[in-house]
Amino acid sequence: SAETIFKAATGCQGLTYDDVILMPGHISFSAEDIDLESYVTKNIKLKTPLVSSPMDTVTEAAMAIQMALHGGLGVIHYNMPIAEQAANVREVKRYKNGFIMDPLCFTKDHTVQDVRDMKAQQSFSGIPITEDGKIGSKLFGIVTRRDIDFIADPSVKLSEVMTKKMVTATEPVGLEEANALLKTSKKGKLPVINAEGNLVALISRTDLIKNRDFPLATKDDNKQLRCGAAIGTRPEDRNRLAALAEAGVDVIVIDSSQGDSMYQHEMVKFIKSTYPAIDVVGGNVVTARQAANLIKSGVDALRVGMGVGSICTTQEVCAVGRAQASAVYNTSRISRKLGVPVWADGGIAATGHIVKALAMGAGVVMMGSMLAGTEEAPGEYFFQEGVRLKRYRGMGSIEAMSKGSEKRYFASGAKVKVAQGVSGAVVDKGSLRKYLPYLITGLRHGIQDVGMRSTAEMHEALADGTLRLELRSPAAQREGGVHSLHSFEKRSM
Ligand code: XMP
Repeated sequence: SAETIFKAATGCQGLTYDDVILMPGHISFSAEDIDLESYVTKNIKLKTPLVSSPMDTVTEAAMAIQMALHGGLGVIHYNMPIAEQAANVREVKRYKNGFIMDPLCFTKDHTVQDVRDMKAQQSFSGIPITEDGKIGSKLFGIVTRRDIDFIADPSVKLSEVMTKKMVTATEPVGLEEANALLKTSKKGKLPVINAEGNLVALISRTDLIKNRDFPLATKDDNKQLRCGAAIGTRPEDRNRLAALAEAGVDVIVIDSSQGDSMYQHEMVKFIKSTYPAIDVVGGNVVTARQAANLIKSGVDALRVGMGVGSICTTQEVCAVGRAQASAVYNTSRISRKLGVPVWADGGIAATGHIVKALAMGAGVVMMGSMLAGTEEAPGEYFFQEGVRLKRYRGMGSIEAMSKGSEKRYFASGAKVKVAQGVSGAVVDKGSLRKYLPYLITGLRHGIQDVGMRSTAEMHEALADGTLRLELRSPAAQREGGVHSLHSFEKRSM
C-alpha cells in the first residue's frame, strides 16, 4: 500500500512520480465510463482534474477559457497590471460558447474603405453598425461583403450601404434557440440585442458549425465559466484582489514558493473574512505540518510542490523542497481527511504522472510546461533549428521577476536578485481543443488500467490500502522506458 511504501521511504528518502509504479487491477468497464470528477476546492468540483499554472507563459484568458470549457480550471497569472488581470478574468466570465462578446463594430460614419482596410487584416462576413462603433450601443444595421462588393467609391459612408433589415435575437436567448434562428434566417451572422435595441453579442454561423458543445465545462451558478487568478501577499495585493473580485473571479490562488508564512496566513484570513464567496488556495507547501498550518488559517485547497517544476531551481538554490510524490502523499493524507483538496503542482511531464498524482491523493494537478507551447498559451511562436517553439519561463527566472513576479520569492526590493527558475522554450503542441482531449483520454486509460472507475474510488483505495504500488529500482525505470531500439521518434506529445 502507499502507506507502507511511503512510511519506509519517508524519514530517509523522498519519492518522485518515477520512483513508484501502480499495480494494475481488474477492468470491467470502458475508459469512457470513468468518472474524473474531483474537488478542486472545498466547494467546487471539476469534471476534469486539470488546472493551468499562473505563469506568464501559460495562463491568460485564452488558456483559462479552454481549460474551463474542457472541465478544468485556468489560473490567470499576475505578472501584469491589476486592470489587465481583471480584464482577463472578465473575458473568461463573459465567454459564452458560440456567442461573440467582443465583435468588431463600425459606426454609420465609417466608410467602405475602412471595411476594405479591415478586410485586408482579418476575414469577416458581417460587421455590426452601432451608434458609437462598439458593442453595448444601439444597433443600426450590418455590413456584409455583398453590401460593398460593387461600390466603386471607397469614401461612401456605411450608413448608405448597410443592411438595415436584419434578423436579430433578443436577450435572453440560448445557444440552441439562436442556432435555430440562424438556420431559418440563412444569414451568416445573428446580432443579439437587448430590450433597448443595443447590441449585446453576435453569433456566427461558421462558429456555430465549428463549435462543439462542451458538456464538461466548469461553470458557476449563472452558467458562466469559472476562472481562477493569482495574487501575492503584499498589502497592495488587496487592491488587486478587490479588482479581481469585482471582475467575478471564482478562485484566488495565493502565489508563493513557500506558503507557510505569516504573510500568507494573514492574506488567507483577510480574503475569507472580506470575500466569503471566493475560494482561496494556499501554498505552496510540501509537508504535513505546513499543510496543517495553512488549513488552520482557512484555505479551501492547498497547492503542493516546491522546486519540482520543469523550470525550477529552488531546490538547488535554496536547498529546500521535496520530491513530488512524497509531497503530494504526505500533504493529502491529512488534508483529504479535512475535505481540503490538494493541487499537485509541478513536475507533470506525461499523462502517467497525472494518474500517479491523483493516485497519491491529489484532487487535481496543476501544469505549466505541459500546457506551454499550445496556441492558447501567451507569446508568439518562433523557429529554432527548424522546430516551432514558444517561450516558457519560470516565474522565478530573472526575466519574469523583472516584470513583477519577484513577490513570489520574497525578493521584492532586494538589491541582488537570486533567480529560482530558468527561461527556455517548449515545442508547439497545437491547440488545446485537440491537446486537452488527448490528456484526458490518457488519464482515463491510466485509471482504467488500475481497475478504478473514478478518481473518488482511487482515493478510497489509497486510504484503505487496496491501491497497490511498487518502488521502481533504477533498472526498473530503464526497463519501463523505451529501450533496445536503434532510434525512435517520440511523437506522443
Ligand atoms: P511544471 O513542471 O508544470 O511546473 O512546468 C510548473 C510549476 O512550477 C512552479 N514554478 C517555479 N518554481 N522556480 C521554481 O522553483 C520558478 O521560477 C518557477 N516558476 C514556476 C509553479 O509552482 C508552477 O505551477
